[in-house]
Parts: sequence; C-alpha cells; structure tokens
Amino acid sequence: MRQARMRGAAARWPALLVTLCALLVPAAAQGAGRCGEHLWCDRSLSPEQRAELLLGALSADEKYGLMGGDDGSGFTVPDRNSGRSDGVARLDVPPLTFQDGPAGIRQGFGANQRAATALPAPLGLAASFDPALARRAGALVGREARARGADVLLGPTVNIARVPQAGRTFEGYGEDPFLTGRLAVGWIRGLQSTGVIANVKHYAANSQETNRLTIDSVIDERTLREIYLPHFEAAVREGRSGTVMSAYNRVNGPFSGASRELLTDVLRRDFGFRGFVLSDFFAGGDTVGSANGGQSLELPATSYFAPDRLRAAVAAGQISPATIDGLVGDVLRVMFRFGVFDRAAFPADGPIDVAAHAREARRLAERQLVLLKNDRRLLPLDTRRLRTLAVVGPAADTYRAGGGSSFVKPFASVTVLEGLRRRARGVRVRHDDGQDVARAAAVARRADAAVVAVSVESGEFADRPCLALDCAPATGTQDALVRAVLAANPRTVVLLQSPGPVLMPWADDARAIVEAFYPGQQGGHAIASVLFGDANPSARLPVSYPRQAQDRPAAAPEQFPGVGGRSLFSEGVLVGYRHYDARRLSPRFPFGHGLSYSSFRHRDVRIRPAGSGARVSLSVQNSGRRDGAEVVQLYLGLPQPRAGVTQPPKALKAFGRVALRAGERRRVTLELPERAFSYWDVRRNRWTVARGCYRVMVGASSRDIRLRGVIARGGAVCGG
Ligand code: BGC
Repeated sequence: MRQARMRGAAARWPALLVTLCALLVPAAAQGAGRCGEHLWCDRSLSPEQRAELLLGALSADEKYGLMGGDDGSGFTVPDRNSGRSDGVARLDVPPLTFQDGPAGIRQGFGANQRAATALPAPLGLAASFDPALARRAGALVGREARARGADVLLGPTVNIARVPQAGRTFEGYGEDPFLTGRLAVGWIRGLQSTGVIANVKHYAANSQETNRLTIDSVIDERTLREIYLPHFEAAVREGRSGTVMSAYNRVNGPFSGASRELLTDVLRRDFGFRGFVLSDFFAGGDTVGSANGGQSLELPATSYFAPDRLRAAVAAGQISPATIDGLVGDVLRVMFRFGVFDRAAFPADGPIDVAAHAREARRLAERQLVLLKNDRRLLPLDTRRLRTLAVVGPAADTYRAGGGSSFVKPFASVTVLEGLRRRARGVRVRHDDGQDVARAAAVARRADAAVVAVSVESGEFADRPCLALDCAPATGTQDALVRAVLAANPRTVVLLQSPGPVLMPWADDARAIVEAFYPGQQGGHAIASVLFGDANPSARLPVSYPRQAQDRPAAAPEQFPGVGGRSLFSEGVLVGYRHYDARRLSPRFPFGHGLSYSSFRHRDVRIRPAGSGARVSLSVQNSGRRDGAEVVQLYLGLPQPRAGVTQPPKALKAFGRVALRAGERRRVTLELPERAFSYWDVRRNRWTVARGCYRVMVGASSRDIRLRGVIARGGAVCGG
C-alpha cells in the first residue's frame, strides 16, 4: 500500500481517526476503479472520511490545481466535452469531465458537434407540470451523458423567467419558483440515478443575456429569498444536486461566484448544501473574493484561480489554508459520493439506445404541447373528414430548437410536415413554406383545414429584441402570414414553436392555437399525435403570455435590460402572474392555462390542518368523452403582514396531475407545508407565518379558479 502523506493532519483529528480505522481494513476492501491502493480508496469509509484522508496527502500546489479547469482540455477542441478539471496523477485523482446541457448532450460545436437525443425544451417539460416526467427526462440525459464520458452534466437551468423576452427562457422552467423547484428535483433525481452528477445553474438572479458578463442584479433580500432562490434550495436539499454553477451576473455588487452571502451564508448554511460550486464558463471573479466566497472551481480554464495567484493570496494571508481545504474538500467529497474514484472513467463512445430514446423523446413532447385555444372543437382533426390539409409556414418543414449551450444536434429529427404527412394517411397534404404570403394563403384556401407553423429563434448570448413573432418590421411576415391563412381558411390551427411568450395580435380570429415550444427531435410526430387526437393534450403554460408588450413585467429600462450596468429588480416579488394579478392586467393566456379534449369538474373542496401546514382535497371528474389528464393547481393568497410588505394576490403552492378515464372521478389531495404559508421576514431574517386569513384558490389555471376556501393562522378569525 502506498503511504499517503499526512501533512497537516494534526489539525484534522477526524483524519487521524479514520486513518487508524483504515489501517485495520483488510487489503481486499481497499482500492478499485481508478483509485489505486491509497488509504482513501477504502469504500467502507464515508465520503467525508475519504476526502479528509486525501486532503491530507495533497500538496498545496496540487490543491490549487484542483481548483481550476484543465487549461486547453477541450472546451475549445471541437469534438470534445465542455470542460475538464485537473486531476492529480501522482495520487490517482481523476479529472472530472463536464458537459452541457439541460435538453440533452451537447458535445462539440458547429459541424463537429456530436449527435444525441434532442429532448423538448425544458420550458416544455415544465408545461407538463409533472415531476415524474422530469425525472424520466433527467434519467435519459444521464444515460447519454455516461455514454459520452461526462461525470458532471451542466444542467438543469432553473433561472426564473423574469422577463418573457430573456434569451434563455426556453431553457428554464418558467416564471414560478415552486413549479421550477418541483421540476428541478425530479430532473436531478433522474439524472443522478445514473451516476452522473447534476449541476443546477445559474446561481443566482440570472435572468437576462444583455450585458450578461457584467450586469449587476440589484435585488432586495425578500425578493431573492421568495422568487429567485427557493428552487435552488429544493434542488440541493431534496434533489441533492452534487454541484451548483455560479452565474455570470453580479448580485448586489459582487459576482455571483464571489458572493459570500450567496454561496456560504445562503447555500451552505441555510440550504445545507454539501456539494461544490463551479463557475460559469469564463465568468468574472476574483482570487480572494471567489475563494473566500465559497466557489471551488473555475471553468473551463484558469485566470483568477490560477495556481500562482492562489499561492500568492495564501502567502499574503488573504486566503487561509483551511479555506482552500474546505473548497477542495467539497470537490473530493462529491467525487467520493458519486463513486468517481471507484469506477473506470465513463467511456467516450458508450452505447446509446437511440431508438428507445427517440420513443421517449416523443412521449415527452406529447406531454408538453399546450392547447391554448380550441373554439368549436376544431381539434382534434379527423382524417375521415379531411381530404386536403394545408401545412404552411416557415416552421413547417424545418427543425426548430433553442441555441447556445443547450442546443442538441439531434440523432434524427422529424419536422411538423413529416409528422403530419405520416399520420394523415389518406389525406392530401399540401405544403408551402409561407415565404410568399399570398401563395401560402391560396394553398390554405383550397384545403379542408390548415396548419400554419410559425416560430421564433432564441438562445444564449442575446435577449429577444421584442415579443412579436418577428422583431424587424421589414421581415415581419409571420403575423401577416397567420392573418392571411386565418382569413383564407377558418379551419386553421396556428402552431407555435416559440421559446416562451409571443404576442398574438390575431388570436381572437384563430379557432385553434397550439404552443409546442421547441418540441425536440420527435416534435413532428408528437404534434401530429396531438392534432389528430391520438394524444390528449394536458400541458399548462409555465409562463404568462401578455396581450400587449407594455403589459409585461419589469418593462422599465432600469429594470430590464438595466441602466449603468445595473438591473433593478424593483418589481420585487411581482414576477410573472403575480405581476398580472397585482396590476389587474388580463394576459392573453395566463400562467397554468392549457386545454384538453376532455373537460374536468372540480368539486367538494375540503381543507384540514396537517401538522404545521394544511391538507386540501377535492374531487376531480373527467366529464368529457375521452381519457385525459387534469392539472389541479392550488394557489394561496397570503395576508399582508404589515404595511409596505406587498403580497401578490395569489401564488402557486401545490399542484397535481391526475389522469382520468372518461367519466372517472377521483379525490386529489394536495399538501401545504408550513413554508407555503410563510413569507421572508426581513426584520427577523427568516421565514415567518403572518397572523391572518389565507385565501385558498383551487382551479385549472391561475385565472380559472373553481373552488375557494380560507385558512386561518395565528389565531385569526376568518369568515367564509
Ligand atoms: C453557459 C452555461 C454553459 C457553459 C458551458 C455558458 O455560456 O452560460 O450554461 O453550461 O457556457 O457551455
């Protein structure tokens, strides 16, 4: 057995203890995988004990080396992974390989990008309102990450859609922290069940691309705690995400990755995070601030965590050796927890069940399509009553997906046209790309029904300049196309593939509107299943769609995109539907909205105390003629604790997706823990339940409340 060097062990009495224990362990229990035969290779020890032993053996320079990416490791090498940390060959410490991203595996760039299963955009996954589905998506990504040699998968993205035009809106789970948290927990559990380590990103208050490397999110403590952090808490506490990525932006001054308050006080102390924090790629930071703040790793190359800078800062007494041990220890603990030392490196060319994953991508896509409007039951289409179907528009026969680090090059993709052609056997499908509006309208006019497929591009690096389908008036033909096709054929379905909210000035004239977001590589098949009724839509909007641009939240320039390098989050907690409710604005389509080919009755709500929270149950019946699923949503209206503390009229606190056969009735129970009744009290610096009456609202969307009740707290007497 090679003898580990136990430098500085006196300062670590637990290390001495575990060393003694380790010496008693038979040689057979030692070492395996890539670990060698060091003391820390004993798998009967806890990750903490093993990390402690290894720390004792590392030199100071080796520790500094573990805090930065392996410069030149591959971020810029086209066919490689998104980044790699340094290992320590002398002690058989393997490097970690990092790879994007939240909708599937991105490996390499441009022409060199390797194919993978391209899943629907995470915003669509959120529209399923189904954490179990998120778990399946996470597991699929995990299996492919393993097969591409990734130890850490750079996802999920959980940033709140504060402004609907933010470039990465499609990459996250929408505008509500509770929904985002539930989806993130499911996804992370699925991913990590495969042995791949999750990286929940971007921490924190990262809600725009404009000036993203420098912008300061100026935000008050309550808003941070109530809107921008709860889903990170869920991701690390319940999801047990191994890692967190600090964001590009600053938060109230320091860079996110140098914020002691965010990384140490909140993430570690309050949320109990025991993993490690890595930087966003090439994000700003500073040697002393980032180390003392609590960030362990700079990726993909080193600048402020370059070994000579760390060495100098330690020599100058600006960073203590104990701090370095803490940061490196966090990395090592995660590596031991996930068995990185105890297994061979994941192969770069492992097997992927491409066909099974394609089927899964299709199922996921079917569950994310939101039926926004369906007047006089235009949908589902019936092949027996159609002789000709027009499929027109620029997004009918091209694959649409979000750009940037979450772009996945699909193994194979199915366009809307292909999907509809395949499904509509016996129907003549006429296609026109819609570039010539009059010609496309003529094709639609001659058909029995039409689908007009429009889309909006979006991705990392830029926010959308506007919320319309086309922002430059000169090229703004998509609205004109939709209007012309609607006028030509009243049996027209408008099919959106958008990264989030878009303006629909023609919505009142459309009988049917379907939002597919970016539906992934099997999108065409999934869309055909829904349009022809093989699948009954059940998804709900995870973001509000405004009626007009000026209605959107954070519309003032100092709020978004910010002035003088600062973006003021002065709308406070009034984000998303909270904003529309408080300002009494009627959105085009509200948060939580989505239709089905069935209809559902909500009845007989019962509210009972349960521990320090409450339990709400109701009866839900499928009153339609098709099997389908309802998403029951429970909102609470919190009382105002005192003057100056604005409470939104309602906030989502629980939801449940319930599948019901035609005619079936079932009781659904939703739990409200104490946190659901709490607000962040800045005076006491903690979650607090105010005395008062809490309005319970249960329904099918944030604007379709079917049942109401009230719960008293703190001895309040409430009527009704
Ligand atoms: C993005 C991250 C991504 C990283 C690596 C950055 O530009 O913000 O989300 O994981 O690049 O590709």
